[in-house]
Amino acid sequence: MENREPCKSSRFEIRNYLTSSFYKEISTDVLTGLTADQKFIPSKYFYDERGSKLYELICKLPEYYLTRTDLSILEEKGGTIMEPFEKGDLVELGSGANWKIRTLIDAANEPHGANLRYVPVDVSESALVAASEDLINKYPKLRVLGIVADFTRHLDRIPNEFPKLTILFGSTIGNFSEVESQEFLRTVANSIKPGDRFLIGLDMIKEKNVMEAAYNDAQGVTSAFNRNILHIINRELNANFDISVFDHVAFFNGEEEQVEMHLQAKHRTAVEIKNLNLSVEFEKGETIHTEISRKFSKESAMKMFSRAGLTVARWFTDPKGWFSLVEVVRSRF
Ligand code: AVJ
Repeated sequence: MENREPCKSSRFEIRNYLTSSFYKEISTDVLTGLTADQKFIPSKYFYDERGSKLYELICKLPEYYLTRTDLSILEEKGGTIMEPFEKGDLVELGSGANWKIRTLIDAANEPHGANLRYVPVDVSESALVAASEDLINKYPKLRVLGIVADFTRHLDRIPNEFPKLTILFGSTIGNFSEVESQEFLRTVANSIKPGDRFLIGLDMIKEKNVMEAAYNDAQGVTSAFNRNILHIINRELNANFDISVFDHVAFFNGEEEQVEMHLQAKHRTAVEIKNLNLSVEFEKGETIHTEISRKFSKESAMKMFSRAGLTVARWFTDPKGWFSLVEVVRSRF
């Protein structure tokens, strides 16, 4: 038996670069957010185990066109996207359940991922290990290097030894403010080597009722997802939010070109956050802003990329132009 496949463990390696403690971070963020004029909680705290499961359910909702459309572009254009990429690293930022990447691995010239190394980057080590194991079982030649890190901070930890295609699927960047996305894309631009490419998913501006329905589904899954953030704060910081007092609210803010999610107090109420030694009062109708999901036009996206030092190489979209996968390269070296 000469041609034995490398055993599974030799195809999977994991490196952990997470430094700051989750507890410290959520403490300062919640203190800042709930003492601000417009109260807010950063959307990155949605994703505990229950939150991640709810998000997976959201992705399958009839109203939530984003995932389906993103995937349809990958299925349609996967071969073209992978074409100039013979061999190298396929890096996925915020990899989560990693099932979109399978479309690209399947579309690669060499079957079973033989010439590819998949490099998922995620903050959750347990999710990363579980998802990576699924993947090496499915692709008997694929190697996986898991990076446990916050990709907004640790881009420099991603290996540079091979040509690479880095991907930010979904509309993850939509959760970043304009300033945050500028900062992030500049770091991306600086990390790109000649020949490397970056593929980024953007949700496009479309009819308002289509965008709003995606965040107000009939089954109430998005509402449960939004309100789950209060469960998380109750648990992590020993707080006593009465979750039934808060309504899920989501709408398109045309001026800012973003869908916003809020939690709105049905009546005057107060909450104790024991671990922060903080009590917070809410007026009737007052909201906690929990998420922005920015929507783009071709113009606003082009502007964002060029300001960050990135040039659009190829633009992939669906027939309705609802979602875009934009391939960018560094403008100057
Ligand atoms: C995970 C950021 C792509 O903004 O559409 C889904 C999260 N929030 N429903 C998005 C989300 C409400 C989602 N992203």
